[in-house]
Amino acid sequence: MLTLMKNSLDIFQCPICCSDLALEEGAVVCKNSKHKFDVIDDVPLMFHESRADSKESKITHEVKHFYEENPFPNYDETDTPAMLTEKAEKSIFAKLLNDELPFNINILEVGCGTGQMANYLSLAHRYIFGIDMSFNSLQLANGFKKKFDLKRSSFYQMNLFKPCFKESSFHAIICNGVLHHTLKAYEGFKSIIKLLKTGGFVVIGLYNRFGRVFTNIRREIFKLSGNHFQSFDPYLKRKDVTSSKKNIWFLDQYHNPYETAHTFGEVLKWFGNNTIEFVTSIPEIGNLSCFDEDYKLLSNKPKGNIFSRFLTQLVMPFTDYREGGFFIMIGRKR
Ligand SMILES: C[S@@+](CC[C@H](N)C(=O)[O-])C[C@H]1O[C@@H](n2cnc3c(N)ncnc32)[C@H](O)[C@@H]1O
Repeated sequence: MLTLMKNSLDIFQCPICCSDLALEEGAVVCKNSKHKFDVIDDVPLMFHESRADSKESKITHEVKHFYEENPFPNYDETDTPAMLTEKAEKSIFAKLLNDELPFNINILEVGCGTGQMANYLSLAHRYIFGIDMSFNSLQLANGFKKKFDLKRSSFYQMNLFKPCFKESSFHAIICNGVLHHTLKAYEGFKSIIKLLKTGGFVVIGLYNRFGRVFTNIRREIFKLSGNHFQSFDPYLKRKDVTSSKKNIWFLDQYHNPYETAHTFGEVLKWFGNNTIEFVTSIPEIGNLSCFDEDYKLLSNKPKGNIFSRFLTQLVMPFTDYREGGFFIMIGRKR
C-alpha cells in the first residue's frame, strides 16, 4: 500500500505548511503541524483550499463538484491495459509521448482525472504521480491500477494551487484540459511549473480561443433548443464511441461550470516569464497538417510570428482540431 509514496517521501510536502510528511498507521502526517491526511482506497486526501470564501474557492468548489459527479474521461467496462494502449495509439499524441519520454523518470500528471494517461504511461518503466481534486475520478484511476497490478502509477487528491510536492521534483509535468477550468489559469501554471526540474518538459493542453468558436456556438444552440441537435458536435456523431462516453463528453464540453480559452501567444508569454523554452505545439504553428506518427514531440520547432500563430488558430475550427478546440504547448525548463 502506497509503495510509490513510501519510496519517494522526500519529494512530498504538507500542502498546508510545506513541511515534510511521514506515513503513519495508514495516514499521511505532517511532521511539523502533525496535521493528519486520511487515505481512502490507497488515495491520500491532501486537497487543501487556496482561500476560503474567495471567487477562486467558489469556482474550485463548483468544478470539483462537477467532476465528482462526472469523472472524466470514463473507463469502459471492458478496458484493460491492452485497450488503453490501443486507444492511446489511435490518439497519436499519447503514443508519441510514450515513445519520447525517457524511462526511469518521475512524471506528474496534474488534473489526471480518471488516470488513463497516467496508467498508460506507467506501463513503460516510469513513475507517474497523478493528482486531481476529484476523489471519484481518482478512485477509478486507482481501481484500474489495482485491478491490473500496475506498480508505477499512484494517485493523490490535491489542489494544483496547493501542491503536496516540493519544488523541482519532476522530470516532466503533463497538464491537459485542466488550467482552463480554474479562475486564474496563469496562476495555476506558475504553481505547477515550480515542481519541474531544470531540463524537464512541461506539456500544457488548453482550450483555444479561436478553435473553440464552433463549440461556443453549439453550446448556445443546445441551450436554446433544450439539448437537441447533438449531432452538430462531430464527437457525438462518431460511431466508434460508446453512448456513456458521449454523455460525459457532452456534459464536459457544454455543461461545465467554468472554462476559459487561451492562445499560443498567451502561453508563450507564460513560458517566457518562467524560464521555459518553447519546444513545440499541437497543432504545429504554421503547419496544421504535419501531425502524424513521425512527428517529433520533444524536438524544437519554430514558434512562428504573430501572423502565423494567428492564422494557425484561425483555421483550427475547420480542421481535425475542431473536436473540442484544444491545443497543446510543450516547453522545457532552462
Ligand atoms: C477535463 S478533465 C481532464 C482530465 C484529463 N487530464 C484528461 O485530459 O482527460 C479536468 C480535470 O481537472 C481537474 N481539476 C480542475 N481544477 C483542479 C484543481 N484546482 N486542482 C486539481 N485538479 C483540478 C478536475 O477535477 C478534472 O478531473
